Amino acid sequence: MPVTVVVGTQWGDEGKGKITDYLAESADVVVRYQGGTNAGHTVKVGEEVYKFQLLPSGILREEKTCVIGNGVVVDPGVLLRELQDLNARGVTPATLRISERAHVIMPYHKVQDALEEKGKGKLAAGTTMRGIGPCYTDKVARYGIRMVDLLDAEALTEKLDVVVPLKQRLFKSLGGDETLSKADLLREHLDYGEALRDRIADTSVLVDDAIRAGKDVLLEGAQGTHLDIDHGVYPYGTSSNPVAGGASVGAGIGPTRIDSVIGIVKAYTSRVGTGPFPAELHEDPADRIREVGHEYGTVTGRPRRVGWLDQVMVRFSSRVNGLTGLAVTRLDVLGGLDTVKMCTGYTADGKDVTEFPADMRLLARCEPVLEEHPGWPDLTEREWVEMAGRGYGALPETMRAYLDRLAEAVDVPVALISIGPSRAATIDVRA
Ligand code: GDP
Ligand code: IMO
Ligand code: MG
Repeated sequence: MPVTVVVGTQWGDEGKGKITDYLAESADVVVRYQGGTNAGHTVKVGEEVYKFQLLPSGILREEKTCVIGNGVVVDPGVLLRELQDLNARGVTPATLRISERAHVIMPYHKVQDALEEKGKGKLAAGTTMRGIGPCYTDKVARYGIRMVDLLDAEALTEKLDVVVPLKQRLFKSLGGDETLSKADLLREHLDYGEALRDRIADTSVLVDDAIRAGKDVLLEGAQGTHLDIDHGVYPYGTSSNPVAGGASVGAGIGPTRIDSVIGIVKAYTSRVGTGPFPAELHEDPADRIREVGHEYGTVTGRPRRVGWLDQVMVRFSSRVNGLTGLAVTRLDVLGGLDTVKMCTGYTADGKDVTEFPADMRLLARCEPVLEEHPGWPDLTEREWVEMAGRGYGALPETMRAYLDRLAEAVDVPVALISIGPSRAATIDVRA
């Protein structure tokens, strides 16, 4: 495998957590490279279900080294809670390391997120309210707080002296009445620094050493290609670069180190948040897919919008990520439908639209061109697991035809097939 990126090809929640955990079995190091507590990555092991916001999804394999890279924005309180929850469940990830260069989500970022969303009107993305946008904004504006600052009272004081009055003025101008206490912020965050001191490290060196030693490294993205700040549905996406290029930046390794890029494709499309969604389903079988698939946000609990699998979106993802393989998830959720549809292109203003538009007004006018495929049976979770155990040949012929069609349409081979949330419900078809 040597160095492999796991990237979402749609609008997030494609099953990156499940596939990362699966691939982590044969990796030595697992690195989260961007995003923050807006992510919710689910891993199911046996009957146990784990949901991670900041921890890399390889964390349950305790012998692996897990890294939170410099591209991630870290809410230290949430991270400590995630670690405590894991400890309470008998998992002790001794080897977790956090980049000293990763930026810190501060309490004022969450206040700012809420105030800005309120003021944005039609431009509101429906954020997760976790302070993601404001934290990345401060990073780029060069007054962000980094993990390394939590280890140095003087450095943190110096920064807060500048930032707190600035944020206070900002809140006021946005109609907020929250007051910030510099002393409280300082105390709380120095405590976090103490609690995490042994884990804060120069993780670029750590990952580079592993690669030089011939170890296998997995780079786990959060969100998805169509939420990317450059390539996504701007301004309705997130504030980081989930795309594979972001893996190099966010893990602190050069792009020449990356060998393969696995694009996670949900067998249909889902979306939490606002913005145009051409293949969205507004009627049957939307409710069925939402209920069978438990399509409610992991972080916010919001019902996810659902639609058919969209080749235009995945083709776009293949291009901007340089995908070398697809991991297609949640095929089981579509079980029991007579007909399963795939969007092959769009029409707008009487013309064909073959590439995913940058113009959101044009995207909103796009109507999907749909092709129909015969469906496959509805089985129980246990039956799907048994089928996975029998391998690719045991899959319903109609499901294999659907996969073949997707691979041909986006010109990327299928590498992994997932027909259930657990590890055992996975078929590896890599050559
Ligand atoms: P992520 O953000 O990309 O890691 O995805 P989420 O964890 O937010 O959402 C994916 C959901 O689908 C989780 O509840 C997973 O346990 C579940 N899941 C992953 N793969 C499959 C699959 O093949 N079938 C089913 N039924 N569930 C899956
Ligand atoms: P994972 O990693 C799905 C969406 C939000 C909102 C937009 C911006 O679990 O796939 P933000 O809080 O990032 O400023 O919100 O992006 N969003 C996600 N949607 N899965 C995610 O993460 C998401 N992270 C952010 O709903 O529309
Ligand atoms: Mg998720």
